[in-house]
Amino acid sequence: MDTSEVRNIPAVEMRDITKVFGRVRANDKAQLTLYAGEIHAILGENGAGKTTLMNILYGLYQPSSGKILVRGNQVRFSGPNDAIAAGIGMVHQHFMLIPPFSVVENIILGMEPLQGIGRIDIKTAARQVEELSRQYGLHVDVNAKIQNISVGMQQRVEILKALYRGADILILDEPTAALTPQEITELSSILKGLAQEGKTVVIITHKLKEIKAMAHRCTIMRQGKYVGTVDVNAVSTQDMAAMMVGRQVEFTTKKGPFRPGKDILRIRGLHARDYRGVEILKGLDLSVRQGEIVGLAGIDGNGQTELAEILSGLRKADSGSITICGADAFNKTPDVLFSLGASSIPEDRQKYGLILDLSVSQNLVIQNIGKEPFSRRGRLCPKAIGAYAKEQILQFDIRPQDCENRPARQLSGGNQQKIIVAREVQNNKELLIAVNPTRGLDVGAIEYVHRYLAAHRDQGKAVLLISFELDEIMDLADTIQVIYDGKITGGMSSDMADEKQLGLMMAGGDQA
Ligand SMILES: Nc1ncnc2c1ncn2[C@@H]1O[C@H](COP(=O)(O)OP(=O)(O)O)[C@@H](O)[C@H]1O
Ligand SMILES: [Mg+2]
Repeated sequence: MDTSEVRNIPAVEMRDITKVFGRVRANDKAQLTLYAGEIHAILGENGAGKTTLMNILYGLYQPSSGKILVRGNQVRFSGPNDAIAAGIGMVHQHFMLIPPFSVVENIILGMEPLQGIGRIDIKTAARQVEELSRQYGLHVDVNAKIQNISVGMQQRVEILKALYRGADILILDEPTAALTPQEITELSSILKGLAQEGKTVVIITHKLKEIKAMAHRCTIMRQGKYVGTVDVNAVSTQDMAAMMVGRQVEFTTKKGPFRPGKDILRIRGLHARDYRGVEILKGLDLSVRQGEIVGLAGIDGNGQTELAEILSGLRKADSGSITICGADAFNKTPDVLFSLGASSIPEDRQKYGLILDLSVSQNLVIQNIGKEPFSRRGRLCPKAIGAYAKEQILQFDIRPQDCENRPARQLSGGNQQKIIVAREVQNNKELLIAVNPTRGLDVGAIEYVHRYLAAHRDQGKAVLLISFELDEIMDLADTIQVIYDGKITGGMSSDMADEKQLGLMMAGGDQA
């Protein structure tokens, strides 16, 4: 074998991997080929089988059938220790670190270098970890306790832990889900550095933009099956999305012409404190008109969460004025705000949006359950509720389609969100407040949510979109307002918006 042949042997081949859990085929003849020196993305909607396939490669599950080759040799892992011995490391979506332990203690856990009899030589370990951290630009504070460091640093600890164990195939499950944009950029350059050193990096994600920015190749999965592997540079985001979802996906939402009417929401000089009692809204002014989507752009922590809570009656403000359709809406209860014409798609859908133990049908009618036709003479009419729910489930493509009597808890996050969007859009209120309405959703579900928000606005309603996703705001909003340090620091029509300038304003740099 000459060296070029050696180079061409894949680091990993997974062939015809099938994994059955009871009645679910999580993987159904899945395929994956990985090479040294590449960043390989695994793309698929929630439930497509990505995590299962990688858990199999990491030895956490045994496949029901199929085979795995590592550097040309067939392997059978009976647990993660076997996979680690074969040079495979995995960073799970939910980190597995021990909070009261230090960074270095977590990294060496289970494989401590010994000094004397049974004593851990923590100094040697710390030196080794620091060396690795320098080599790969994985900045960590080795002596800090896990509970005191940021999510980004915890992730670097997990990566170091895998490298410390000799991983040259590194799997990261949805590594960007909990990171800030800056941390994502930093992670991206770390992973590129690892690939340049000849390591194989696998990232699981459903974010196309990140694949474009980071990965060389991408394997797409749908419903447990292999759809294809593409060169990221040679394929458009649209085509990757279509492979993932199984249909063409629109990235820009179609809206009718912009014809704003009178103010529906008007906020003047709003002051409020956060949960610690620190002033967080410092004289905020904001208006949303009929037929207008106002996108509130800002970095988390600048007062948008508190504003949303005030507007849905979950928090009291200190001073200022709020009107909805001309009526006083300052410090009112959720019921009063609802009757004044405000509905909302909350940030925490499991806490405020849904009652998880009630059925999908009941959740769909929850604010109107005591009214005709859902109740008559004080008694519920399950037939009317069921018929209405069936219609909504079809119209909003809530899946599975026979879910009307299931508890909402059993649905995926994307489908839970569709229940809330369906209900709040159908409430047909003059003002709809949507807070991060597509957080954690797949592209297919995002497209639906965006389409319904746009349709609501096309019908002359006012929509306040509070979102940490600048792309979402740029796509949907008619008018963009930037919130920074508890105030609106600039506004512009979305046609005039420039991503760079907005980014600057969001960081408090450039005030328009
Ligand atoms: N341990 C398990 N037991 C039963 N079903 C599972 C288990 N793990 C995953 N599944 C099911 O397998 C399917 C694929 O899940 P997963 O691999 O987590 O998808 P993804 O990571 O692409 O979102 C889903 O329907 C999921 O509910
Ligand atoms: Mg997963």
